[in-house]
Amino acid sequence: MTDPVLDAIRRRRVTRAMTDEPVSREQVETILDAARWAPTAGNRHLQRYVATTHSGPLRVLRMVSPGMIPRPPAAIVICVDRGLSEQYGFRPEAPGPWIDVGTATATILLAAQAVGLGAAPVSSFSHAAVAEALGLPDGWDPVLIVCLGHPAPEQPRPISPNRGLTWRDLTQWVPAHES
Ligand SMILES: Cc1cc2nc3c(=O)[nH]c(=O)nc-3n(C[C@H](O)[C@H](O)[C@H](O)COP(=O)(O)O)c2cc1C
Repeated sequence: MTDPVLDAIRRRRVTRAMTDEPVSREQVETILDAARWAPTAGNRHLQRYVATTHSGPLRVLRMVSPGMIPRPPAAIVICVDRGLSEQYGFRPEAPGPWIDVGTATATILLAAQAVGLGAAPVSSFSHAAVAEALGLPDGWDPVLIVCLGHPAPEQPRPISPNRGLTWRDLTQWVPAHES
């Protein structure tokens, strides 16, 4: 089946080499607006986004993020507002707010592609150092950083290529019940 959304999903790959070309504020705003439409548990919108296109904070983010391979000209840090999540009655171990970060991430990666940018999600970073460096409000827990930038012509080899994994390898059908 051909469809522009399915096609974009299949084409998207993490961009681990980015050029120095700046990313415009407008591009980042378009991406943040798309993220706002990602589904959230109970429609509560407990994620908070911290965006930057400034070299100083980006350098600091990179210093405290071993998993950040690109040198991105922009980044969005996706946080969970733990205070708000508690107010709405989510237990600290409830998965909903963290799953919301996943739905937002997937939406951001595709939105970045739609505005002509590459994107790279990063979970390997010091949460305390990121919170400190960005001056995050109390209770905002940074969960994932999405690097944004223009893809360089040469990309590093993918991490552990999936060797032809298909949806069939990941799926089990429930058999019909005998009645
Ligand atoms: C939750 C999550 C965390 C990730 N953290 C990192 C990271 O810290 N560093 C990194 O280079 N890639 C990271 N990735 C990107 C994955 O390595 C990448 O999606 C995977 O290798 C498949 O590549 P593809 O998205 O290009 O198909 C992360 C992806 C997800 C979903």
